[in-house]
Amino acid sequence: MSDKLAAWNVKEIDFPSGGSLFEQLKFLLRYAVLAPSGPNTQPWKFSIKDDEISVIVDFTRSLPSVDTNDRTLYISHGCVLANLLIAAEHFGFSYDVKNFPDGLSGARTAAIGFSKPGSKPQFPNLFPEITKRHTNRKSYESRDIEGDKLKKMKDCVDMEGFKLDVLTSNKGKNEMADLLARAHEIQLGNKAFRKELASWVRSNTSDAKDGLPGYSFGYSDFESFFGSFIFGTFDMSSSRARTETSYMKASPAVAVLSTDSDDKLTWIKTGILFETLFLTATNLNVRFDLFSQPIGIQMLRHEMAQVLKTKYPQILIRMGYTEPAKHTPRRPVEEVLIS
Ligand SMILES: Cc1cc2nc3c(=O)[nH]c(=O)nc-3n(C[C@H](O)[C@H](O)[C@H](O)COP(=O)(O)O)c2cc1C
Repeated sequence: MSDKLAAWNVKEIDFPSGGSLFEQLKFLLRYAVLAPSGPNTQPWKFSIKDDEISVIVDFTRSLPSVDTNDRTLYISHGCVLANLLIAAEHFGFSYDVKNFPDGLSGARTAAIGFSKPGSKPQFPNLFPEITKRHTNRKSYESRDIEGDKLKKMKDCVDMEGFKLDVLTSNKGKNEMADLLARAHEIQLGNKAFRKELASWVRSNTSDAKDGLPGYSFGYSDFESFFGSFIFGTFDMSSSRARTETSYMKASPAVAVLSTDSDDKLTWIKTGILFETLFLTATNLNVRFDLFSQPIGIQMLRHEMAQVLKTKYPQILIRMGYTEPAKHTPRRPVEEVLIS
């Protein structure tokens, strides 16, 4: 396994059961860093003090043009938190989570105190899925997702103030694909947006431990060599937009996770629910492809909310069946743990 993918090689058996609390908490972070983040910016740092892990925003990795109010950044932090807590439950810890312990303007999104023995799990047993979960941008088979699987996924988001709409009709899927196509069109005209996104696209052979290697979009080594450049140009972006919308129309289901409020704490909770949903889908062999584009544009987000009769759409998901895709790089814990 190449170095940039080594983080995925974490093995449960390596948990330092005889080690210090610091070593054990550091081991839990090896699962936290496998969380998804848009476009794999991994906008996080961690610190460990006594029995407490702090999850901290790395604002140098925010996306001022793509993610103007840091909405997806905070959703990613929720995903990190879900992975961390699921791993903690698996290794027999109980925990006490304080969100934004320094207030909403502070950089710490959570401070989690850990102790043993564990208590009643708050999450389903999704630990084995953390190392299998991945975003899959391939075309999906046309066969339907079974009703009981759709129900299990909906149940993950069964919490007041949160809602998962799953659309399986052609009308519903086409409406979402149309919003996605319009978002691409608007964003293609925004040079700063394209430049910022392109700066996170990597060649397949790059050693970078963050960003999106061309292979995650199906680009060959040769194509990916020019990835950052061509991704930022009109032609490549518009052909990508055409692929995404046609894949969306042809997939068996499209879903939108929405919320009743739209603030930092809601985004963190959205991330926790979303990662629980993503890991549940992984357990059911259902693949996810994710889209922030139409939600990042106020007018389209509003239209989407009207179509779905929700308040604040947070993430658009294409779902279906296909073979697994390759993981994307991750920075190891040593690179994100600060003293
Ligand atoms: C909140 C959020 C928003 C995302 N938005 C997009 C998106 O708009 N387009 C896309 O291709 N991927 C999107 N992704 C997927 C990330 O690019 C992906 O998680 C990241 O590259 C890491 O890859 P992995 O999920 O396979 O581990 C998003 C992920 C998250 C958590």
